[in-house]
Amino acid sequence: MATIETPSRGTWNSKLGFILAAAGSAVGLGNIWGYPTQVADNGGAAFILVYLVCCILVGLPVMIAEITIGRKTGKNPVGAFKSLDSSGFGAIIGYWGVLCGMMILAFYLVISGWTLAYVFEEIFKYSGNSELSAWFGQLDNGPKNAIFTIVFMLFTIGIINGGVSGGIERATKVLMPFLIFILVAMIIYVFTLEGSAEGIRQYVLPDFSLISGDLILSAMGQAFFSLSLGMGALITYGSYLKKNQNVMESATYVTVVDIGIAFIAGLLVIPAMYVALNQGIMIFGADGDLISSVALVFTVLPQLFENIGGPLGLFISISFFLLLGLAALTSSISLLEVPVSYVIDEHGIKRKKASLIVGGIVLFFALIISFDIGLIDIFVNIFNEIGLPLGGLMTCIFLGWVWKTGNAITELENGMPGAANSSFVKLWAFFIMYICPVLISIVFITTVLNLIR
Ligand code: PHE
Repeated sequence: MATIETPSRGTWNSKLGFILAAAGSAVGLGNIWGYPTQVADNGGAAFILVYLVCCILVGLPVMIAEITIGRKTGKNPVGAFKSLDSSGFGAIIGYWGVLCGMMILAFYLVISGWTLAYVFEEIFKYSGNSELSAWFGQLDNGPKNAIFTIVFMLFTIGIINGGVSGGIERATKVLMPFLIFILVAMIIYVFTLEGSAEGIRQYVLPDFSLISGDLILSAMGQAFFSLSLGMGALITYGSYLKKNQNVMESATYVTVVDIGIAFIAGLLVIPAMYVALNQGIMIFGADGDLISSVALVFTVLPQLFENIGGPLGLFISISFFLLLGLAALTSSISLLEVPVSYVIDEHGIKRKKASLIVGGIVLFFALIISFDIGLIDIFVNIFNEIGLPLGGLMTCIFLGWVWKTGNAITELENGMPGAANSSFVKLWAFFIMYICPVLISIVFITTVLNLIR
């Protein structure tokens, strides 16, 4: 089937542009918050190893699959699957992706809003206004959540409105290097503080006895979320990719950047916790495990920043929350781009109008969550823990058994002459047909059983 490349659809301007945009999608709250939290939750370095295996054995092959489908068809997920298969099976995968994208964005915006609100919380704490500081720092403060959720959505829509190369590519080209700079600068500083050495030791020395079924499930779920897989973000980004770019190579870069940034985010957060311990801050919960999740990012770390004190403490805390916010922004634009590209392609609506319509619908759900943050867990369970592996599983089955790997390899030949003879490509095809579906199915069924139990 010929690729339909309407000039209005847009393409990435440069090779690096795609890699940065896709890495921007991948690197987000999942890396800087989710991953260190999972490490803290699952006994440190043992988790890192299993996570690496999940990213390489399942994440990378699925990412290559998504980008290939996107570039072949030059369409949004619904249009892409529809054009490769007239039976209707494919379209379901596309619609499921669009739905998951919108619902993940809804809770993602609320959490992203917290990071922005914490910038103000820290400023007011520093200036001694404890009342305002508490208002901005209260996570279940509905009106405050609503305001910051709307602000974050406006940023996201603003970038999306600029189009593919003028908006997404331009923004990520600036934001990603900035993000890496803040991260590295903070790590260097934390390493100079007392206690960090113990944190590094805890972080990199694995205790293999801690590897369990639950740990593997968490690692796989984290891999899908962190690599932005299973809901068509990379089909969409792949649809803007030029034919002369090597898909295998680009996907590998994106995966390596995502794993790398998660790893160094852990190198910031875990040692920072031990620095906090050294300063008398409680970093273990009642169960004796490291404090994780919400409390880790919004309680333990701010206490540490407070202990550092003075303008330096303020500067570091603002940098940290800005870092989280920036990482979230380059991901939220990809979450919104999926349904927006669907509306543009399939319903012939102009980009600006499409982003306002879809943005409005997502905002409706995000505002409900803003006033009832208990809903975040439910959304995570359905659309993230079930939704993404299910989307990934269907994508593998579709590519391997409906569209067929031979056709995909022909597409891979663009930008990678000789792909059909490459053993890496052959291995990939085998993984997509057999290994990935089996591994994802095991994880998927176990996750569902755990959730309904
Ligand atoms: N990968 C993003 C993160 O790590 C989240 C995301 C999931 C973005 C799915 C797009 C699609 O935070």
